[in-house]
Amino acid sequence: MSDYFRNKVHHKEIVATFDDVLILPGFTKTYDVDISTKLGKYKFNIPIISAAMDTVTEDEMAIRMALLGGLGVLHRNCSYDKQLKMCKNVKRARSFVIRDVATIDINASILEAKTLMEQEGISGLVVIDSENKVKGILTKRDIPFTEDRVKSGKLIDYMTKDLISIERESSREEALEILYKNRIEKLPIIENGYLKGLITKKDLKPEFPYASIDKEGRLLCALAISPKLPESSEAKNKLKNIDEYVDIFFTDVAEFYKEKDILGVKELMNFLDSDFVLGNIGTYEGAEHLLTKCDFDSDKFIGIKVGMGSGSICSTSIQTGVGAPTLYATAEVADAIQDYNPKMSLIADGGFKNPGDIPKAFSVGASLIMSGHFFAGCTESPGYIDTIQGRKVKVYRGMGSQNARDIGFVSDRYVEGSKLLPEGVSSYLPFVGGLSSVIQTLKQGLKNGMIYAGATSIENMKNVKIGIVSYAGQREARPHDLLDNISYY
Ligand code: XMP
Repeated sequence: MSDYFRNKVHHKEIVATFDDVLILPGFTKTYDVDISTKLGKYKFNIPIISAAMDTVTEDEMAIRMALLGGLGVLHRNCSYDKQLKMCKNVKRARSFVIRDVATIDINASILEAKTLMEQEGISGLVVIDSENKVKGILTKRDIPFTEDRVKSGKLIDYMTKDLISIERESSREEALEILYKNRIEKLPIIENGYLKGLITKKDLKPEFPYASIDKEGRLLCALAISPKLPESSEAKNKLKNIDEYVDIFFTDVAEFYKEKDILGVKELMNFLDSDFVLGNIGTYEGAEHLLTKCDFDSDKFIGIKVGMGSGSICSTSIQTGVGAPTLYATAEVADAIQDYNPKMSLIADGGFKNPGDIPKAFSVGASLIMSGHFFAGCTESPGYIDTIQGRKVKVYRGMGSQNARDIGFVSDRYVEGSKLLPEGVSSYLPFVGGLSSVIQTLKQGLKNGMIYAGATSIENMKNVKIGIVSYAGQREARPHDLLDNISYY
């Protein structure tokens, strides 16, 4: 049994956390560090995931995270219909070929077309007849400016009828050439008169070279899921439909080391095609159990998510006395992964307060990190910007907080039936602006940490040394002994 990572963190059963340790400086040969990582077959240019929480990740955050090279896990505190819509939006946001093209009947009015575009958040519709044959295209630019015309206009009078289209097997370069030559932005793929897809100029531009994408150039989509196959056939059908747009499901429970959840996930894996990250767990034994005793579909089981009670909005440990701080849990599970399946990815979830906590997670075996705290204050998170005592803020709440539970879809995230015990709190975080500058800061902290530690890749980070810091050392590690509340820039 390996205890390499665990020995780095705990002496006897001290449950160490981020502030308890520091990475020790290592010999640096180069500043050229690679922060890309893998989760199953998926590559990420940044090893950072936004949490599946309803004040953190909906489609806007998931799209931005994936564009920047990470991943956003869509929350599940809403109906299957809303989950489906969010997943579709992620998949549609950027793809070389859009398969699920929005269409409209040739006899529709301009008002109907305008409303549909607004509802779906898209800028064009392919026009089809009663036999589903393509007849033209209508884009936002074709919509008349005056209200009268919008109200009374017929779509057929405003659409472009002479369609320029492209064949199914065409390359990205051929598509770009046709778009440029004809000064158009949308190119339907048509076969025998029927629509087979749509290529758009915006999706061909390599504006986001680090984006996390699937084989067709669409953004990767991840969604939280309850570890239980729904009972009704209606719910099953909806979930099956969602599965078409999802690449990775993340089981979403505070603690996954439970027979019921394990059996539930096995049923889900049989029923759904997408891959799975399972969690959260927090010990070597938990990981050993998942890796050796459960007989999960080995192609679909691609990652384990760890940490319990460390999140900034968590109160599970306070309420129940049970927890596994993220650094401790990561080291524990990393050893089990090393012993039983070194290809399995490990996601360290929650408890990150400062950018410097991120390299610490990699030093004890994480492949990616997940945070809600870093991202809930961003422009892209759900919810409004409020002002409190002159400061701009956004709400951040635990999924076990009373207000999140009142929405009604996450009752099985904690111990089922325990409605009276909130295991999370609701509060505010400072509004921090756009996600890209937050990601930039986190990336820089990680890269500089790797340089100081002498590591050149995430894999390499597993070899760096760490030490336990005394209380006095923790105090010294932060700015200290300065005049309070006075900053000099
Ligand atoms: P941070 O530290 O980023 O943690 O705020 C986010 C992670 O915390 C978990 N989570 C909760 N845990 N009660 C808990 O005990 C809650 O109400 C709660 N809500 C979220 C979750 O794993 C998330 O990624």
